Amino acid sequence: MAAPLRIGIAGLGNVGSSVFQLLAEHGELLFDRTGRDIRVTAVSARNKLKNRSIDISKVKWHDNPVDVANDPEVDVVIELIGGATGPAFDLVKKALDLGKPVVTANKALLASRGAEVLDLLKKSKGTVSYEAAVAGGIPVIKGLREGLAANRIRAVYGILNGTCNFILSEMSHTGRGFAEVLKEAQEKGYAEADPSFDIDGIDAAHKLSILSGLAFGCVPDVKNIEIKGIRSITPLDITFAGDLGFRIKLLGIARQTAKGIEQSVEPCLVPNDSPIAAVEGALNAVYVDGDYVGKVLLMGYGAGGNPTASAVVSDVVDVARGRALPLMGLTPDKVTALKPANIHDRIGSYYFRLMVLDQPGVIADISAILRDHKVSLESVLQRGRDPHQAVPVILTTHETTEESIRRVAGEIGKLKSVTEPPYLMRIEEFNG
Ligand SMILES: NC(=O)c1ccc[n+]([C@@H]2O[C@H](COP(=O)([O-])OP(=O)(O)OC[C@H]3O[C@@H](n4cnc5c(N)ncnc54)[C@H](OP(=O)(O)O)[C@@H]3O)[C@@H](O)[C@H]2O)c1
Repeated sequence: MAAPLRIGIAGLGNVGSSVFQLLAEHGELLFDRTGRDIRVTAVSARNKLKNRSIDISKVKWHDNPVDVANDPEVDVVIELIGGATGPAFDLVKKALDLGKPVVTANKALLASRGAEVLDLLKKSKGTVSYEAAVAGGIPVIKGLREGLAANRIRAVYGILNGTCNFILSEMSHTGRGFAEVLKEAQEKGYAEADPSFDIDGIDAAHKLSILSGLAFGCVPDVKNIEIKGIRSITPLDITFAGDLGFRIKLLGIARQTAKGIEQSVEPCLVPNDSPIAAVEGALNAVYVDGDYVGKVLLMGYGAGGNPTASAVVSDVVDVARGRALPLMGLTPDKVTALKPANIHDRIGSYYFRLMVLDQPGVIADISAILRDHKVSLESVLQRGRDPHQAVPVILTTHETTEESIRRVAGEIGKLKSVTEPPYLMRIEEFNG
């Protein structure tokens, strides 16, 4: 019989506790699936005395998480502390220096220090597995790296943040404003006390950079992602988008183009009848578009202790079976720096929300600016008439470049009759 696989877990928060619980509860099942007894031998967290939902009295406690890697009775290190700096990185480094496999859910670390992790791997017999770092319980890393390994990937995109999707879904169903729904999300535990990481698109950008690295065989590059969050979306946008046949979703999109890789995280209009429009609440969904397979959609819970633990333990199962998979899907010496495309060259159709004084000639002035930049209009919607107040006008355009649309927005914003800066969103139909 194969030797037991001894696990050390650093970080016993939401995910760490669920991993501990899952390994205990499914011990027999995991034995049947791997032929090995997978047992936790050591743990670490900040506070040994903290009241936890799990019984850690029978495993060794380390005050310093790096000692989990040093422990001779630990074969696999599970890093569930989080963060790109501090003990998480030190622990991963120590484990790799010692040639031990690492399993992590730490998107921040891979997104911002992927190059260092790749360098460590070149000198190590260890591995780094990170199924849980992107889209929690959805097996998107294995899907891309293994299931779709035969394809050249054209694009990978989707809903990568459950908090934003919950907020946008609630706004859409109830007509309530962003601030009110955010408060409810915080009360229900879907959003953090400081929600900026989620609602400003940073969390989704971390995940997108990892997906992009894997899809295109390059080092995750979060710096070259165009990021816009969901704070500025109003109930008006939701209503107008609906009237035009769209839903608003925060999408992470990475596309291979002739000029390089385009990466963005931003709210987009997607057609009402598209599968991605139907992804509601805290769910995540990821599309992968491969040259032989076409489009593949994976959907499920992208966060939460149990879904994330499911992903973490799937990586442990790989280690138990003796599978070692390359970090970015290519042999390490083939992984290159990402070549970013200039986002201003992006082609697309756009939605504009304008607040304008209801005066004669306003639409003519706006049309003149669009004409001067060779941007053609698809539709104009105006609701309400009030000569003394600004009223919303919604424009949608045919395809144009991002550069033109930004210039148009800048010039429209300078018109005296336009009372606030235009708000712009891309319309993503994913036909290509
Ligand atoms: N939560 C999710 O749904 C989810 C989904 C996907 C990925 N992830 C990733 O999973 C990782 C863990 O997330 P989480 O939600 O479980 O976080 P969490 O609930 O905040 O837990 C963090 C754990 O790390 C420990 N810790 C923090 N700083 C430490 C330090 N300096 N030294 C030792 N231990 C330290 C904490 O100890 P104490 O318990 O003693 O305070 C706690 O047990 C993160 O990388 C996160 O991005 C989370």
